[in-house]
Amino acid sequence: MVRMSESERNELWNLWEAGQSLHQQLDWTIPPSDQGVQHHLHRRIATHPAGYGRPQSGSDRTLLPFTESANDQNSMMRAIVYHEYGSSDDVLELKDIDKPAVKDDEVLVRVHAASANPYDWHFMTGLPYFMRLQAGLLKPKANVLGVDLAGQVEGVGKKVTQFQPGDEIFGIGAGTFAEYVCVSENSVALNPTNLTFEQAASVPLAAGTALQGLRDTGQIQAGHKVLINGASGGVGTFAVQIAKAFGAEVTGVCSTRNVVMVRSIGADHVIDYTQENFTRSGQRYDMMLDLVGNRSPSECRRVLNPKGRYIASFGQPEHRWLGPLAQLLRMLVMSRFVSQKMTTFTAKENKEDLVVLKELIEAGKVTPVIDRTYPLSEVPEAIRYLEEGHTQGKIVITV
Ligand SMILES: NC(=O)c1ccc[n+]([C@@H]2O[C@H](COP(=O)([O-])OP(=O)(O)OC[C@H]3O[C@@H](n4cnc5c(N)ncnc54)[C@H](OP(=O)(O)O)[C@@H]3O)[C@@H](O)[C@H]2O)c1
Repeated sequence: MVRMSESERNELWNLWEAGQSLHQQLDWTIPPSDQGVQHHLHRRIATHPAGYGRPQSGSDRTLLPFTESANDQNSMMRAIVYHEYGSSDDVLELKDIDKPAVKDDEVLVRVHAASANPYDWHFMTGLPYFMRLQAGLLKPKANVLGVDLAGQVEGVGKKVTQFQPGDEIFGIGAGTFAEYVCVSENSVALNPTNLTFEQAASVPLAAGTALQGLRDTGQIQAGHKVLINGASGGVGTFAVQIAKAFGAEVTGVCSTRNVVMVRSIGADHVIDYTQENFTRSGQRYDMMLDLVGNRSPSECRRVLNPKGRYIASFGQPEHRWLGPLAQLLRMLVMSRFVSQKMTTFTAKENKEDLVVLKELIEAGKVTPVIDRTYPLSEVPEAIRYLEEGHTQGKIVITV
């Protein structure tokens, strides 16, 4: 029997707590339409001095025109819904459902773009099974998929102080594969001024994970040698750029077709995993951010300096019951006997970090890499593509 310290227990259950606050948001059920609130919101929209459909000065983005569609009139919206766990073809449907009603501390957002993450796949399939204790034992508690968003504020709750209708924002919400979503004002920030909605929607979860993993868990410092396994994916493409912005010397691991792209976003060295096993290269790093989990903890430890840090952040969807928990447990046990720090973390949505990312993006230090864009109706195809595990950067959904 392995006795774990308080901090080790915390680390093990970090994954379990994955997006705890997100889950709380996911608990909302779609309310019946509230005519009073809708009328109030429509009045605010109609009278908002900024107007809608105006061109954006100083940027190349085109604001999608706000149209009073039949859906708007009857308080309905289109959304990707699911009522049971399963594959994207079997459980995802594009449906007209009631628009959510805004609470006092929330903003109502007209979503212009969202992005797909492995997180969505886990919620759609209910895998690994242990996560159903939170997401819903037999059926999903939440019925609209998607967490990343970029869009325009259409209405604000009574207690909202930081936003007003017309603001263009990006961030994290629950059920963003939809025309409208209500989100806490503390989980969104003003859009980076140099990004389109599509680019901005690709940022929150993936770049937030990269930032928190490198800065908070990894304690990255200028001059550190950092290895990123999975450098060409959604999190990896942000991690390469953020690590460079911190002044690190970055090595990215990816397959042959992504070598040029990973180098182009700033990696100093690229290891093609089809040609070379990075655990046998003889190189030593101060930190390894592992976004794949295809090597054992002892193999990964081999590439670390004596005081190096191994940071695990992967889902291992092939392990249906426990996902990455078994590997994380092995890692935590090992970390008791070695000089390196071996740890995991769960990204937490956080307005301050969205602002940090906005600044990095506006300074030209981080630019989203977008692989493919799908319309809302093709979310099932987008998730299927993501599931293959070989995206080059992010998958964006236009709404
Ligand atoms: N801890 C958290 O809070 C948190 C938050 C978000 C995501 N995550 C986890 O982070 C992981 C990465 O997420 P993501 O959004 O970046 O996923 P993703 O976009 O689906 O990652 C796909 C990338 O993985 C690469 N890859 C596949 N096999 C590889 C291998 N053997 N070696 C190196 N690279 C390989 C692929 O590159 P090739 O095509 O070149 O193979 C592809 O570019 C996921 O497991 C996700 O669950 C954790």
